[in-house]
Amino acid sequence: MVSSVRILMCPPHHYDVDYVINPWMEGNINRSSRERAEEQWNTLHQVLKRYATVDLIEPQIGWPDMVFTANAGLVLEKTVVLSRFFHPERQGEEPHFQKWFEDQGYTVHTLPKSLPFEGAGDALLDRSGRWLWAGYGFRSELDSHPYLAKWLDVEVLSLRLVDPRFYHLDTCFCPLSDGYLLYYPAAFDTYSNHLIEQRVPAEKRIPIDEVDAINFACNTVNVDRIVVMNQASPSLKQALETHGFTIVETPLTEFLKAGGAAKCLTLRVTEPRQGEPHSSSIQSRVVQLEGHLLDSGLVNRALDTVVSGGGSFQVLNFDLGEQRQDASTADIKISAPETGVMADIMSQLVDLGAVSLPQETSSAQLERVVQDGVAPDDFYVSTIYPTEVLVKDQWIRVQAQRMDGAIAITHENSGPVARCKILRDLKAGEEVVVGSDGIHTLRSETSFKSKQTDEFSFMGAGVSSERRVELVVEQIAWDLRQIRDRGGKAVVTAGPVVIHTGGSEHLTHLIRQGYVQGLLGGNAIAVHDIEQSMMGTSLGVDMKRGTSVHGGHRHHLKAINTIRRCGSIANAVEEGVLTSGVMYECVKNNVPFSLAGSIRDDGPLPDTKMNLIEAQEDYARLIEGADLILMLSTMLHSIGVGNMTPAGVKMVCVDINPAVVTKLSDRGSIESIGVVTDVGLFLSLLVNQLNKLTGQYAQH
Ligand code: ARG
Repeated sequence: MVSSVRILMCPPHHYDVDYVINPWMEGNINRSSRERAEEQWNTLHQVLKRYATVDLIEPQIGWPDMVFTANAGLVLEKTVVLSRFFHPERQGEEPHFQKWFEDQGYTVHTLPKSLPFEGAGDALLDRSGRWLWAGYGFRSELDSHPYLAKWLDVEVLSLRLVDPRFYHLDTCFCPLSDGYLLYYPAAFDTYSNHLIEQRVPAEKRIPIDEVDAINFACNTVNVDRIVVMNQASPSLKQALETHGFTIVETPLTEFLKAGGAAKCLTLRVTEPRQGEPHSSSIQSRVVQLEGHLLDSGLVNRALDTVVSGGGSFQVLNFDLGEQRQDASTADIKISAPETGVMADIMSQLVDLGAVSLPQETSSAQLERVVQDGVAPDDFYVSTIYPTEVLVKDQWIRVQAQRMDGAIAITHENSGPVARCKILRDLKAGEEVVVGSDGIHTLRSETSFKSKQTDEFSFMGAGVSSERRVELVVEQIAWDLRQIRDRGGKAVVTAGPVVIHTGGSEHLTHLIRQGYVQGLLGGNAIAVHDIEQSMMGTSLGVDMKRGTSVHGGHRHHLKAINTIRRCGSIANAVEEGVLTSGVMYECVKNNVPFSLAGSIRDDGPLPDTKMNLIEAQEDYARLIEGADLILMLSTMLHSIGVGNMTPAGVKMVCVDINPAVVTKLSDRGSIESIGVVTDVGLFLSLLVNQLNKLTGQYAQH
């Protein structure tokens, strides 16, 4: 019985493996037999004619992969999105397929030139037409998915392919009749597997193993309950039969050499639209994104966020520029299987700068704090990015922007005021923003670009090369001088390693020369600095000779004890007990410092704040209004400072451990620069460069 299904095929008269554009083709150039290919293709053709009407397109000399008509485009009803091949080796097929579709009366959509999408090879409709599964990662770009959603008016579920052998979605994924799914889970990333599991109930999923996968078992043509494929293992046959499918095997080994099989050799050109795209349990929201969406990678990130969070999207309006780098606006409908998933996705999208649309005229949702120091469950967690909230029809800028806070709203005479507050400062009765409506984070284009460009160039290989360090040093020296000369503020966060690595003389120089307006650290940096100043050792190691001093391990305690006797570091300086070093220079030059805590029971110094809350407040006060923060080899103090600092403050993190540097640059803002190097060396380069800039060459 021939159903109403029509399939497009292309005879293999000019088929061969002429180049390598996927792992299957490697070692197979000119290795396929034309005769056997014709024979296998004819058999497939005959088989398919039993179940469908087969149309043929004229093969073209010079385009050997044109047999794989799945890659012609993606059809839904009378609309087709034409493929844009990733590899030039196949791009010449495009006009031939375009002509065929036009001749058949299809509405043909073509994607922007630089946006690859490989048709039904990478996009498969759910067999009940509920949504479109779209693959990306190798041949098609995620950015192409919004176009599919828009032009075909269908919900798109994006799946990321991760195994180069399964470079097209149809090599590892095959939706079957009645909601069944034949697929190879290992070809997808975790999130995609998650999405698949959310949409297809366990009893409808037919996962296959690697052996079947490499025999292209997923590359199956399915018409009703018939599945036509190259080959299936006995266990797969059994699984399919149990679910009521009849298997027709037809060897396609010659085409496997080019990385394709039954499904690749066909394109279903009748895809009726069936039913409503959304089932009722699915939630949806509309958000708007604005800016250089494609060029900045923002769309990619936003869609990635949606997909990786278990949701899906449909593009309602995409006001595209002509070029990828043009500014554009997108209204995106986000769908999620349930409320929790939606809430998570929405808050992440808001952090990326998206605005929730239907709420544009309604205010941010507020809820009262019931218990001091505890926010309502659903409170919006603030980021380092400038944020606005919609209160009483008015977008107001949040003050004291910082990360990990709640946004509290107060109503003053001048109108509502929004302010970031840390949890412990919340008071019962106070109103706090919950959910993600009426919140807008202002992300600059550059804050996205940094990820791909700057950070990459500084830390590309994890460790900065010497020349790179020099370049960064030049830039920081320049900034420091500018900041000093215009009366700005540079703050240094330093760990004890600064002293161990011989950085003390350089840091003291910076302080003396007026480059430092605040110093943050813990007990240790001050202790080691004072030990070095009083006894010439740092943790008992002679700083000139680099060797341990007999009994030196007691030195740091003696240093602490001496300062304790004086009552404070400042007193010690005044009494002439402390006469040099970093802390001495701070006191002498009126540079405020804050020493936050110590878990070590070795003192502490009288200046060390053992109450961490007070210490945090002290830190926050010293950071306020900073233009630049130089973080020198102290992971915890740097991360703490990073969290307290709003976007826009330049941060330079120097550490020998790349993990620390990466952690800080995770802020993703252009302002953070990571330098993986020895901090003593870094400081000496910095001082040298500053001296060069000011015409005083180093004397040593
Ligand atoms: N050699 C072709 C390519 O690499 C094979 C295409 C297979 N088609 C498919 N829909 N999986 O593009």
